[in-house]
Amino acid sequence: MSASVSFADLWESLLPIGKTDTGYRRYTWTAADMRCREWFTTHAAAAGLSVQTDRNGNLWGWWDTAAGPGRRHHAVVTGSHLDSVPDGGPFDGPLGVVSALAAVRLMRERGCVPTHPIAVTAFIEEEGARFGIACLGSKLMAGAIDADAARGLSDDRGITFAQAMEECGLDPEGLGRDDERLGMMDAFIELHVEQGRALAPLGCAVGLAEGIWPHGRWRFDFGGRPDHAGTARFDDRNDPVLAFAQTALAARVQAGERGALATFGKVNVVPGAVNGVAAAVHAWLDARAADEKMLSETVTGVRYDAQGFCDEHGVSLDVRQESATPVVSFDSELRERLAAVLERHGQGDVPVLPTGAGHDAGVLAARLPTAMLFVRNPTGVSHSPAERAERADCEEGVRALAAILEDLAC
Ligand code: GLV
Ligand code: MN
Ligand code: MN
Repeated sequence: MSASVSFADLWESLLPIGKTDTGYRRYTWTAADMRCREWFTTHAAAAGLSVQTDRNGNLWGWWDTAAGPGRRHHAVVTGSHLDSVPDGGPFDGPLGVVSALAAVRLMRERGCVPTHPIAVTAFIEEEGARFGIACLGSKLMAGAIDADAARGLSDDRGITFAQAMEECGLDPEGLGRDDERLGMMDAFIELHVEQGRALAPLGCAVGLAEGIWPHGRWRFDFGGRPDHAGTARFDDRNDPVLAFAQTALAARVQAGERGALATFGKVNVVPGAVNGVAAAVHAWLDARAADEKMLSETVTGVRYDAQGFCDEHGVSLDVRQESATPVVSFDSELRERLAAVLERHGQGDVPVLPTGAGHDAGVLAARLPTAMLFVRNPTGVSHSPAERAERADCEEGVRALAAILEDLAC
């Protein structure tokens, strides 16, 4: 193992993978994802970790204790994900994986000897960009989604999760709750780029997570009657685009008046003829709120308004929830321990931030103590090619993570 590989070297080696002119496209079980997985395998092995793939396709790199790989109990696990949203930025996910590998290297250079096994992970399909369910790899491991349901999820071209996984040489039969692996873990720490802009005004390079807002995804299907754009009179139309457009505005009002968030970020107009009234609109609502009641009231309000607009236009409506993530409060004892480590490390009084973004650490929080470390994002922009973190802050994040791992595992 060469000790001189820095955060920058690791970061730069991952950067070209899945990059397009409009942003990152690293979707699960695609060629770009396979290159990300090869990257993980190569760099985890080069950091002296023994690499394995779990039954759900998540990647693991183990730094075992002197007792060897047969004694993987009370492990301290860190990592994040390598997949991206459509046209995403480079940091959301990869920063946590690269920082974890860099932290392991730093600890080795310092001569740390773990008394608890340490593992670096990369969870699959965190963004749900291909198969629709966010945090799928951690949800499968934690038993938060049924294995058959996951196997049957399909992408926009009708390829199922099971087929796509098999095409990548992995067996979907093993998918599902993995109590044996969860039982190996004492704690999971996810380092992540900040999504929002709380740290910059405070002048802090890193922060800790308090909790995650409950959130979910709902599919809205508006069914209309296709017709000629040049001959069908307005009064004779059943135009699903109009019902959808009014619903998108209503979502903003319903969420806005409660202090929640609601977004239609993916819309398919079928068949998509410039000179035709559409036959259907398929639209996906992402809604998030500070508590479950506010979330449920927001979505109920949007559904109610949508039904009214559909009635007005003679359009049918079908609404289905596709994904749900309950409210998360991260383990306060673990967070206090991390805050104390960071204070000793010179970070001062580390800010503790709530977030509306979903994370694998949030899913695993239902099964074991988890915590999150945020690295300052100077613009706050995320899920966009404009997502950023300064190199010096990323390096500070690596040092902070190494100090935490050292405290928990050495
Ligand atoms: C993931 O980043 C999510 O919050 O959807
Ligand atoms: Mn994300
Ligand atoms: Mn993420």
